[in-house]
Amino acid sequence: MNILFIGAPGSGKGTQSRELTEKFNFVQLSTGDLLRSAIKEKTELGLKASSYMDKGQLVPDALILDLVQSFITSHSGKSVIFDGFPRTVEQAKSLRKMLESIGQKIDSVIYFKINPQILIDRLTGRRTCANCGEIFHVHTKPSTKGDKCDKCGGELVHRKDDHADVISERLKQFETNTSPTIDYFRETGDLVVVNGELQPDIVFKEIKKSLNI
Ligand code: AP5
Repeated sequence: MNILFIGAPGSGKGTQSRELTEKFNFVQLSTGDLLRSAIKEKTELGLKASSYMDKGQLVPDALILDLVQSFITSHSGKSVIFDGFPRTVEQAKSLRKMLESIGQKIDSVIYFKINPQILIDRLTGRRTCANCGEIFHVHTKPSTKGDKCDKCGGELVHRKDDHADVISERLKQFETNTSPTIDYFRETGDLVVVNGELQPDIVFKEIKKSLNI
């Protein structure tokens, strides 16, 4: 099964992906997480990607598509949640071709619909575990261990792109590039809309219902 999670920055894609992979037999492909790992490891991809990510811009399609192709090849036979991919119509069409070439398809595209005004608070307050990736929020989901992760004791970090000036550029990129991608999936009949403003457990139930799991 291939499930796509699409939505603005902070709409809850990562939170729901982690929940689904913990409770069901999915693997998560987060292009954002893979790019941040590449930056941490100072690979050639990481060096190229950081110049775009620090400014809140999208990383060029060619780099992203290589990353996704190698993930698909190394995880063949698994059910995948594509978290934050595709973000352009070009990426969407290329993913369809990649899956078709191995006899697979896109099973569902879940769009996390949300009022952009809510996103600023979600993103400026988000803290992420540098070790296990668990996602927190300083007000709505604080760790019981202060600036350490509840789950693994790792350090909680404030992402470089979760500051107001970069967030506004990320939201612009979403409108310019990802909104047309959502329209594309609406036209292909794959789109399922969930209300990303609801409590996380309710959003989770909506997703499970739409996937029939
Ligand atoms: P990426 O890391 O993918 O960031 P994003 O898409 O901007 O999404 P976020 O991780 O910010 O948010 P989310 O929707 O996962 O929300 P979360 O669950 O964490 O990408 C970063 C960068 O990499 C991009 O800007 C780009 O440069 C590059 N990139 C990545 N993919 C690319 C691609 N395909 N093409 C080109 N470039 C690419 O939740 C956020 C906060 O809200 C948390 O604090 C959480 O606790 C809280 N929260 C979550 N759900 C709820 C809820 N229902 N109610 C209340 N609070 C909630």
